[in-house]
Amino acid sequence: MQKQGEKVMELKPFKREFVFPGLVAFISTQDEQGVRNIAPYSNIMPILRPTDLICVATWHKRDTLKNIRKTREFVVNVPPVGMVDKVIATAGPYPPKVDEFDVAGLVARPSRMVKPPGIEGCLAWVECRLVKQYVEKQYVLIIGRVVAFDMAEEFMDVDGGINPARAEPLMMLQNNLGMRFVTLKDIGRFEPYGAMFADGRDPLAHLYR
Ligand SMILES: Cc1cc2nc3c(=O)[nH]c(=O)nc-3n(C[C@H](O)[C@H](O)[C@H](O)COP(=O)(O)O)c2cc1C
Repeated sequence: MQKQGEKVMELKPFKREFVFPGLVAFISTQDEQGVRNIAPYSNIMPILRPTDLICVATWHKRDTLKNIRKTREFVVNVPPVGMVDKVIATAGPYPPKVDEFDVAGLVARPSRMVKPPGIEGCLAWVECRLVKQYVEKQYVLIIGRVVAFDMAEEFMDVDGGINPARAEPLMMLQNNLGMRFVTLKDIGRFEPYGAMFADGRDPLAHLYR
């Protein structure tokens, strides 16, 4: 309930992402002939802890979706803010036969487990294989299994995560006019996973050793 004197704006339901800051990643794929494609995606989430699954929401009319369906492989490339100029450069409606590494001036980084290359200069490369698709009239949810995962060491902190100040991952907030590109700020607060459990122990701790 609204507190007395509190000013609140009502937003239209479709504006949900105005208050959900999202990661901006580049998904690289290739078609059966090896033509390479890149597209920025922000509807990406890991499925719980500790699965090796991720979910990507996509519109039907995407070469990315076509390629994933044909080859069952894709790479989620996590860029630093410095690559913001490549977002619109890779978001254009290029014909399927156009190599988007060439168009956007991006350098390929060979993947370990899948055919589509990753993108040089990113912070991390998440190689995935298609596991399942939830097909709806308007959209498709792609479930991918992570089969290889690399992070550039220079952006890693001592506890194995990314160092937000050094890495500055590319993220965005949306508003009525468009996409505002932002990054993370460390607020100097930390809690171990165990803090969520009554006995203070994380039942998944062994996985991180
Ligand atoms: C920052 C940003 C995030 C985007 N996120 C998504 C997304 O999550 N899902 C989607 O279907 N399209 C998304 N798009 C749109 C696609 O990137 C765009 O339509 C692109 O041209 C698709 O390329 P493709 O046909 O080569 O796959 C996004 C665009 C931008 C600029």
